[in-house]
Amino acid sequence: MTAPASPTKVRGETILSVDNLVKHFPISRGVLFQKQIGAVKAVDGVSFELRRGETLGVVGESGCGKSTLARLLMRLETPTSGRATLEGRDLFKASGSELRRLRRNMQMVMQDPYTSLNPRMTVGDIIGEPFEIHPDAAPKGSKRQRVQELLDVVGLNPEHVNRYPHQFSGGQRQRIGIARALALRPEVIVCDEPVSALDVSIQAQVINLLEQLQDEFGLSYIFIAHDLSVVRHISDRVAVMYLGKIVEIGTEEEIYERATHPYTQALLSAVPVPDPDAREDRNIIRLTGDVPSPADPPSGCRFRTRCWKAQEVCATQEPHTVRRAADPHPSACHFAEVRPGA
Ligand SMILES: Nc1ncnc2c1ncn2[C@@H]1O[C@H](COP(=O)(O)OP(=O)(O)O)[C@@H](O)[C@H]1O
Ligand code: SF4
Ligand SMILES: [Mg+2]
Repeated sequence: MTAPASPTKVRGETILSVDNLVKHFPISRGVLFQKQIGAVKAVDGVSFELRRGETLGVVGESGCGKSTLARLLMRLETPTSGRATLEGRDLFKASGSELRRLRRNMQMVMQDPYTSLNPRMTVGDIIGEPFEIHPDAAPKGSKRQRVQELLDVVGLNPEHVNRYPHQFSGGQRQRIGIARALALRPEVIVCDEPVSALDVSIQAQVINLLEQLQDEFGLSYIFIAHDLSVVRHISDRVAVMYLGKIVEIGTEEEIYERATHPYTQALLSAVPVPDPDAREDRNIIRLTGDVPSPADPPSGCRFRTRCWKAQEVCATQEPHTVRRAADPHPSACHFAEVRPGA
């Protein structure tokens, strides 16, 4: 399998651009005459860029809108508003052959390798399924060979093409999911918590495989996780999400060494530290309570009900992502600053 190479494709240029993306799920009441009484603001104004060949980690607690964001990008959900372009083409306006091309170029790896693979299909049929929709990707008669190549690429035995998902371990099943995502040679892969359901010992193997495939095929990843420690190794940049919004985004170093948003600082505080001395010195911030309902988010700053730094202004004015001269990565907090002694 060869990488999709083109002299015009430059590593580091923007491949995917997301601008003020919103997804509100309506809440309705009434049997005969359904009336909308509210909305779950799952994604509420998300903007970012993904560069060619990079991994953007997306992190936040459960319910923050990460999967909805992934599903919007895969066009499995229709946005309420906002725009996204893949290689300059409008993702949400595309139709017909242009949509087919865009779909082919962006694939997804799901969270749960146990439920995302059809138990009644052989591994060969699962991995080869995208070729049924895009027959030009595997010329007639070459499908089996292509599937076996894909098994080999993800570190599975090509001879196991006729086996069923239950004959594989969790980590192997996630490799099958990755092989299926690679089948159409996409340039962007959205990985929605691809290792969350796996044992810790297996997580690193799957992450290493994704990194190796990225180098080999020049892939760009959106890598979603609920834990900052999982994405550190693989991410070039990290976006931290809270209640439908990105609250801080920066390079790996900016987020892990110089986080300025209290939510990011709290998530970092929960990351285990292997060194016992460093552990003792650490000033832990405990995040208490659950994420509030996205149907009724707090006024002003959405994090204020759980923030130890909250002031009056936080309830009345929504903080927008600002760049400070001293630390130019964006952080949506009125009092953004690096935490001393963190
Ligand atoms: N189809 C849907 N209808 C209504 N609410 C939804 C739907 N999908 C997700 N939600 C809600 O949107 C919010 C964000 O969910 P999700 O994107 O799955 O978050 P995450 O992946 O970060 O855990 C949650 O409150 C969830 O209940
Ligand atoms: S704006 Fe206020 S409530 Fe929000 S994170 Fe900053 S200090 Fe906390
Ligand atoms: Mg999710």
